[in-house]
Amino acid sequence: MSNDKWIDALGTDELPSDDVVGISVEGRDIALYTVGDEVYATDNMCTHGQARLCDGFLEGHEIECPLHQGKFDVRNGQPTCDPVTVPLRSYPVRIEGSRVFLQLD
Ligand code: FES
Repeated sequence: MSNDKWIDALGTDELPSDDVVGISVEGRDIALYTVGDEVYATDNMCTHGQARLCDGFLEGHEIECPLHQGKFDVRNGQPTCDPVTVPLRSYPVRIEGSRVFLQLD
């Protein structure tokens, strides 16, 4: 179920530059990615195993899992490289002033 609730997640000054960071938002483990001026959010836990994507390697719009090197497109959570086959959940991001808001479902 989706709703229109935007959650204040962190300050824009806490965003990494062309990198990934793991944050906790309302008890959920979320990965935030910056690619140029764009910011994307997905679940932080890989869908293939027990690895946090914030410990992985971001290249362009792809995050590489640190455990088996599976890859996802951070824009929509879709798998782009074996062995991952199940998409990550991805979440809308909005920047307002100096804050980053997420819409979790
Ligand atoms: Fe991420 Fe296996 S745990 S690719």
